Amino acid sequence: VPIEPDLSSCGESTVDAGTTCMNVPCCPPKLKDSKIIDFEPPLGCKIRYRPAAHLVDRDYLYKFESAMERMKALPVDDPRNFMQQANIHCAYCNGAYSQVGFPDQKLEVHYSWLFFPFHRMFAMPFWNWDSPCGMTMPQIYLDPYSPLYDENRNLEHQPDVLVNLNDGKSFVKPKKKDDFYELTKREQINSNLYVMYQQMVRSAKTASCFHGAAYLGGCVSETDIGCTPEPRGGTIENGAHIAVHKFVGAKNPPYNEDMGNFYSAGRDPLFYAHHGNVDRMWNIWKTLPGKKRHDFNENVWLNSSFLFYDENANMVRVKVRDCLDSKTLGYDYQSVDIPWLRSKP
Ligand code: C2O
Repeated sequence: VPIEPDLSSCGESTVDAGTTCMNVPCCPPKLKDSKIIDFEPPLGCKIRYRPAAHLVDRDYLYKFESAMERMKALPVDDPRNFMQQANIHCAYCNGAYSQVGFPDQKLEVHYSWLFFPFHRMFAMPFWNWDSPCGMTMPQIYLDPYSPLYDENRNLEHQPDVLVNLNDGKSFVKPKKKDDFYELTKREQINSNLYVMYQQMVRSAKTASCFHGAAYLGGCVSETDIGCTPEPRGGTIENGAHIAVHKFVGAKNPPYNEDMGNFYSAGRDPLFYAHHGNVDRMWNIWKTLPGKKRHDFNENVWLNSSFLFYDENANMVRVKVRDCLDSKTLGYDYQSVDIPWLRSKP
């Protein structure tokens, strides 16, 4: 059956770092009127374009910063408060919910075919890390006086260190073979472009390679997640997506907040730009040639659902089938060059 979070089951999230563990409260605030409404796509015919974060103009930045400031200034128990956005992510990733109908089964939105649909709800201007000009943390997030700033980051990777999309390792063979050899900028860029080609094209020929494995309600398996012997995320989720999280998060064991851990990742405004680009990859993937490069059509996937508060503080149930096409949701991405399409390793 499709996966659904059981709102009444919401409890503390468990954050496990292997050697140590803690519980964090992340449940959504309860409102007096707890009616859940089903999501309806906006009627407007105007498509809004989400810009690349390194290309935004002053007007856009001004509006974006004011919006962020206002979200941060809302009362803490207002479901639209910025911290509550972070908590949504925490609740869905760290076992706060059980599944409807299966009180013993925790709900998890990573490492499966729920990854892209769930995170679609979080997308904003995008961090264009798949293209050379976007491979460092975008400037607009780095001003300590801006509401887009977060002090819990790896300062050694700021302001202009190139991200490594292969999680620390190189995809190109450096000329000198010693472990401490550092890639030149050129080599790092090429390595990243190869990684993108690999994860978007070569290894992502089917929906389950790109999205990740099926994850069904009530399915009991050794790992308690999904119907595969192991939870399995898709190429981008496991690859560039995780690498960028680790690149931004502080070198601060055991939890590497904020971006280095799912429970705290949404506290960094950069999280939304990161997921903007992850989301953009879903749009791009569907346009690439290949007979099997399209979304799943199984109803158990299409009818799985998540709960979010909307801008009027109403709780809304969004099904996977509601969010397959970003244009139906009223947005698309600024079109920029996609250099990795020409970068076969
Ligand atoms: Cu829910 Cu990038 O993680």
